[in-house]
Amino acid sequence: MRAFFLLASLGFVAAENGLDGWLRYAPLPCTTQCHSKVPANIVVLNATETSPIYVAGTELQTGLKSICGSHAELIHGQCKASSSVVVGTIEQYRKTCGNLSEIPELEEDGFWLSTKGNDVQILGSNDRGALYGAFEYLSMLAQGNFSEVAYATSPSAPIRWVNQWDNLDGSIERGYGGPSIFFKNGTVVEDLTRVKQYGRLLASIRINAVVVNNVNANASLLSSENLKGLGRIADAFRPYGVKVGISLNFASPETFGGLDTYDPLNSSVIKWWSNITDQLYQNVPDMAGYLVKGDSEGQPGPEIYNRTLAQGANLFAKALQPYGGIVMFRAFVYNQLNESDWKADRAKAAVDFFKPLDGEFEENVVIQIKYGPIDFQVREPTSPLFANLLNTNTAIELEVTQEYLGQQSHLVYLPPLWKTVLDFDLRVDHKPSLVRDIVTGKRFNRKLGGSAAVVNVGTNTTWLGSYLSMSNLYAYGRLAWNPADDPEAMVQDWIQLTFGLDPTVLKTLTRMSMESWPAYLNYSGNLGIQTLTDILYTHYGPNPATQDNNGWGQWTRADHTTVGMDRTISNGTGYSGQYPEEIAAMYENIDTTPDNLCLWFHHVNWTHHLHSGKTVIQHFYDAHYSGADTAQSFFTQWESLKGKVDEERYNHVRHRLDYQTGHSIVWRDAISNFYYNMTSIPDDSKRVSHYPWRIEAEDMALDGYKTYTVSPFEAASRSVAIVTVSNNTVGTATTKVDFPSGTYDLAVNYFDLYGGQSHWQIYLNDRQIGEWIGNSEDVLSHTPSIYLDGHSAIRIKFRGVTVKKGDMLKIVGKPDGVEPAPVDYVSFLPHGVVD
Ligand SMILES: *[C@@H]1O[C@H](CO)[C@@H](O)[C@H](O)[C@H]1NC(C)=O
Ligand SMILES: *[C@@H]1O[C@H](CO)[C@@H](O)[C@H](O)[C@H]1NC(C)=O
Ligand SMILES: *[C@@H]1O[C@H](CO)[C@@H](O)[C@H](O)[C@H]1NC(C)=O
Ligand SMILES: *[C@@H]1O[C@H](CO)[C@@H](O)[C@H](O)[C@H]1NC(C)=O
Ligand SMILES: *[C@@H]1O[C@H](CO)[C@@H](O)[C@H](O)[C@H]1NC(C)=O
Ligand SMILES: *[C@@H]1O[C@H](CO)[C@@H](O)[C@H](O)[C@H]1NC(C)=O
Ligand SMILES: *[C@@H]1O[C@H](CO)[C@@H](O)[C@H](O)[C@H]1NC(C)=O
Ligand SMILES: *[C@@H]1O[C@H](CO)[C@@H](O)[C@H](O)[C@H]1NC(C)=O
Ligand SMILES: *[C@@H]1O[C@H](CO)[C@@H](O)[C@H](O)[C@H]1NC(C)=O
Ligand SMILES: *[C@@H]1O[C@H](CO)[C@@H](O)[C@H](O)[C@H]1NC(C)=O
Ligand SMILES: *[C@@H]1O[C@H](CO)[C@@H](O)[C@H](O)[C@H]1NC(C)=O
Ligand SMILES: *[C@@H]1O[C@H](CO)[C@@H](O)[C@H](O)[C@H]1NC(C)=O
Repeated sequence: MRAFFLLASLGFVAAENGLDGWLRYAPLPCTTQCHSKVPANIVVLNATETSPIYVAGTELQTGLKSICGSHAELIHGQCKASSSVVVGTIEQYRKTCGNLSEIPELEEDGFWLSTKGNDVQILGSNDRGALYGAFEYLSMLAQGNFSEVAYATSPSAPIRWVNQWDNLDGSIERGYGGPSIFFKNGTVVEDLTRVKQYGRLLASIRINAVVVNNVNANASLLSSENLKGLGRIADAFRPYGVKVGISLNFASPETFGGLDTYDPLNSSVIKWWSNITDQLYQNVPDMAGYLVKGDSEGQPGPEIYNRTLAQGANLFAKALQPYGGIVMFRAFVYNQLNESDWKADRAKAAVDFFKPLDGEFEENVVIQIKYGPIDFQVREPTSPLFANLLNTNTAIELEVTQEYLGQQSHLVYLPPLWKTVLDFDLRVDHKPSLVRDIVTGKRFNRKLGGSAAVVNVGTNTTWLGSYLSMSNLYAYGRLAWNPADDPEAMVQDWIQLTFGLDPTVLKTLTRMSMESWPAYLNYSGNLGIQTLTDILYTHYGPNPATQDNNGWGQWTRADHTTVGMDRTISNGTGYSGQYPEEIAAMYENIDTTPDNLCLWFHHVNWTHHLHSGKTVIQHFYDAHYSGADTAQSFFTQWESLKGKVDEERYNHVRHRLDYQTGHSIVWRDAISNFYYNMTSIPDDSKRVSHYPWRIEAEDMALDGYKTYTVSPFEAASRSVAIVTVSNNTVGTATTKVDFPSGTYDLAVNYFDLYGGQSHWQIYLNDRQIGEWIGNSEDVLSHTPSIYLDGHSAIRIKFRGVTVKKGDMLKIVGKPDGVEPAPVDYVSFLPHGVVD
């Protein structure tokens, strides 16, 4: 009884496995007060079970019971005089319940919420709006907010979509939360329970459509069996007001339809697509539309036939017009480039391709533009394409799945990054031109617009592969509704809904979240140099060399003396000239370019002094140390919440943050050493390449182990690690410890590869200090690596170990599969030292 009370009073509900996300409806501490404040009846103005209004009624009943412990009667179709929550459309309310006091005009999907007086009114401009209002009311109650409110709210834009990059075989491109909830083995899964649950989460953040398959699309989606499957997915989503859209492969008429062309102007191709569209709408009568990636990264497109991207987009637009569907056409189009051409610049591609086509797109085409001109980097300037399409609908593309930003194994709360773009003023025609006002259609008077985010939830019960990364999905929905919303306020709502109302939890997790993107930025790519992950492999760990010397155009142009892309008009690629005059002038001149984009726009000496007064190279060093320090603090901050968060989630998050403390050091050292190696300019603070508390594995006495030179070199301390001499030899590495006697945290840096689970033991004299296995590929969410590199480099810690000078340190490594029990170094860390 006592235990139960304690649990209830902390606001935990059973099985905190993440499935309910922020819709847990945890019981409030003082249930009696709550009870007296919520109505006794729920009047539901639509009795059709598949109606979002019906769903709203059920959701309200469940929520009130769970949050307040009160049972409310459901009354369908008729109005009851008092103590009711009434949920329905405004029109139904007027018909059924009579007069309604003056309420503000609502846009499509908007709602009115009033908790004043005896009744609670939740009235949508349509069914979907009513459901959104119900979730809003429950969100207030779940946060213990019983204020009397009466207000109307409407979406900033009609397009509030998510994109899933799910493949038909069930894998997900850049997905870190397990396999697809939609597809398996080429077809739509039988059991759509998870699809319904996803619909519920999305409705609660007012998302109105999901593109269910990868933009790198497979035409087999159009088989008659799969069209029926799409119909079932749409049926599962419909009660939540979520529509289905699909990605198309441009070459489908040829590869799937058996035609000998896919020329968008060919009449048999046109007919083929309109036939497919007809068939789709027979199965999915309310389909949202299509998403198309054409002529990009090997995907087929109209240019093969010398047709423009507009002609390609319009092909689909016309097929959709009879049904009111929308084509989201991606602006992510670029060609491979030659780095020896100083003026070649991938960042210019979108404007080069699309600006000449402005005004040529059908009214139901929306150009979907990534926030920056390259590809979801840790910091990019705002895509200039937003300022170059004045007669075309646009939407912004964000990425919730942390492709280049830690893949859900690092805590990175993304809205502060997104806001650098949404709130950016492009000064088109010298007038205020915030990106958020452009994509919502306000600035250029476009009817259509909004946002899409790549989300990539999977079957993992945490959805994204980590509890904490769900704040990004939650906040994405909030920003799609209102891009002026505040990142801190949003995360605070999410924290209270996800972890309860404890003020310490709120304060701590708010701080961690708000510090997380700046920290990641600091220990990855600074000053606009981009992310510095390995862009040729998993997009996860550090490998700055991959940015250059290839055709992908994501270059840094770093060498012994200089670094940065010259994107000026005067001597560079001319990219800065793609912005409106005021912005172009700001970026053209290094004196007016902010430090955080210095290397994006200018090619400078490593010794160039920033506005901050620091040199570029010293800024790199300092930022990497400071970012990694902040990451260490996430772990201790989280540990301070022990007992305030349920065990299951506490341990899961603790493990990840512990991992992040280690991997942030891998990042710090890799980037610092890479550029120290390149420039030979030492760190003023003498940290880089000085590691006084380390013992390198290769310096130990080896038996069954041999040295191994790691590539890229900066991924290992002093470039060298040890591996077992064969995959069935147990290796031993020993050395005498020369540090002063005392208590230390022992940190072991090793490599955890995909394809084996080695076993390690660590001893001082013959006392075992710890043991572990290389199973992070099963436990963490990021893409694993089959090499010893910056992705597989990892650290484990054993805390509070008593060490005597002269002790013998011994590591015993047992290889498994392709994983040869690799070890890089051991650090003996006195209290407070990070090395
Ligand atoms: C009730 O909901 C169903 C399903 O969404 C819809 O078809 C019907 O028109 C709605 N009824 C009213 C009276 O709005
Ligand atoms: C509705 O009520 C308002 C006052 O609440 C009143 O001014 C108005 O005349 C009423 N309209 C009808 C049609 O009854
Ligand atoms: C309660 O909710 C309303 C409506 O969302 C909001 O305006 C108000 O600030 C909230 N109050 C508190 C104390 O959070
Ligand atoms: C996968 O689908 C193929 C037909 O496309 C079928 O032959 C096979 O049995 C299926 N495999 C599984 C595991 O369901
Ligand atoms: C498309 O999907 C089908 C069915 O799963 C599969 O057999 C085929 O290999 C896929 N094609 C590509 C290019 O991935
Ligand atoms: C559309 O395609 C289907 C399946 O390929 C075919 O049976 C049907 O005749 C086509 N309809 C038209 C109008 O071309
Ligand atoms: C496209 O145009 C180029 C150059 O104008 C020409 O060489 C090529 O044959 C054309 N391709 C097609 C498919 O018409
Ligand atoms: C979720 O993913 C994590 C890490 O990828 C894994 O440890 C866990 O077993 C998964 N859980 C489920 C239910 O899929
Ligand atoms: C101007 O561009 C050339 C390459 O065309 C480059 O070598 C040179 O360093 C640049 N000058 C300055 C001042 O950046
Ligand atoms: C960069 O350094 C070189 C050599 O030290 C010097 O000649 C050049 O003027 C410097 N460039 C700038 C832009 O400071
Ligand atoms: C840079 O690293 C390479 C590869 O490990 C090494 O050969 C070279 O000596 C290093 N240069 C400096 C200046 O440290
Ligand atoms: C060990 O390596 C050999 C030779 O490379 C290979 O044939 C064998 O499959 C490996 N064993 C394991 C368990 O991976």
